[in-house]
Amino acid sequence: MLGNFTYCNPTKLFFGKGALQKIRPELKKYGRQVVLVYGGGSIKKNGIYDRVIQCLKDAGKDVAEISGVMPNPTIEKLREGIAIARSHKADFILAVGGGSCCDFAKALAVSIHYEGDPWEKYCLKFAEPSCPIVPVGCVLTMVGTGSEMNSGAVITNPEQKLKIGHVFKSEEVMPRFSVLDPAYTLTLPHYQMVSGIYDIMNHICEQYFSGNDDNTSDYLAEGLMRNVIHAGRIASREPRNYEARSNLMWDAAWALNTLIAKGKTTDWMVHMLGQAVGALTDAAHGMTLAAVSLPYYRYILPYGLTKFKRFAIHVWEIDPKGRTDQETAEAGLQAMEDWMRSLGLVMKLSDLGVTEAMIPQLVESTIILEGGYKVLDKEEIATIFRESL
Ligand code: NZQ
Ligand code: ZN
Repeated sequence: MLGNFTYCNPTKLFFGKGALQKIRPELKKYGRQVVLVYGGGSIKKNGIYDRVIQCLKDAGKDVAEISGVMPNPTIEKLREGIAIARSHKADFILAVGGGSCCDFAKALAVSIHYEGDPWEKYCLKFAEPSCPIVPVGCVLTMVGTGSEMNSGAVITNPEQKLKIGHVFKSEEVMPRFSVLDPAYTLTLPHYQMVSGIYDIMNHICEQYFSGNDDNTSDYLAEGLMRNVIHAGRIASREPRNYEARSNLMWDAAWALNTLIAKGKTTDWMVHMLGQAVGALTDAAHGMTLAAVSLPYYRYILPYGLTKFKRFAIHVWEIDPKGRTDQETAEAGLQAMEDWMRSLGLVMKLSDLGVTEAMIPQLVESTIILEGGYKVLDKEEIATIFRESL
């Protein structure tokens, strides 16, 4: 394991059918003024809204609502939410939805008592909160981002064509609890479900494809990836398969709660490319990643050959006999491509509305990180976007 580290994850998880009922004693720990954050209305159609409201009423809470939090939540929506939360004197924020609602709730939590501009402080300067942080709880309805058990919040600024994620250092930003009821995810459209499955897979890849040292995190990552592949296949064929959906829900939380990043460097360039696409197209997050992944991994493969070969053998069960290392590594990526196609993921940026003319702006919006096998320059980023079209 590289370096020294501290590991603490304070988020309490309530997992399984009917887990929402477990928040009743939790709610007593927080004040009366609750802000409920939710999206475009799926929770009203599937009945989750009524169940959550009942819990809050039974706990004697005074509830204000921030509804209409969109996928890829915007800074403008956050500003609207801050005004509602301030006038309600929020003691607690409950997010009910996918990663967008959970992220929004965390961004709100660090902004309610901050007088300045949250976009500048948290997204451009990556500063830590200097004000009291309002506690957050989550009821997850879409699996993928891991936002339910981490301190990340991704906010989009369409005017500046930027989508920026801040992973806060403060443990107080992390949800105090999250409800993970796999049954709540069964109403997700197939498109969103597979987008989330690929998001989980890519979170693990981002932490796996770095370094050549021997460390526990990579072995944990391989186990998680094997389950995401297996359960993903089943869920795509039989979306109502509870076993597969519940495994995916648990995989997602462990894929991005910092556990498998411990003791190693990490990459995250697929997310930087995908976020640039998201800022411009507003496409589903997992699909932006799917469309750029293979051109990126094929490009960096020679620089991380040992790990790509290991990925092929340990994760995709490719037999290295009779193959060169390069051939084994490429067969692993081909197996991943076949799996991605079988799920019905978007494999080309043009299917998300990206055109050749947008590439210079995409390159401009891409943040370059240095933890992976190859530090890309702008020309290489343009090449990868072009190959992803
Ligand atoms: O808005 P509603 O009506 O709720 O509909 C949502 C939305 O349209 C729908 N949905 C969610 N649960 C449903 C459902 N529809 C039917 N039944 C259900 N049970 O699904 C759509 C997508 O929801 P969204 O929350 O946007 O998806 P996701 O969970 O993929 O979150 C995406 C956001 O999270 C960020 C992304 O960048 C993006 O902004 N991420 C956050 C991360 C983190 N905090 O660590 C890491 C990730 O890499 C990611 O960047
Ligand atoms: Zn992601």
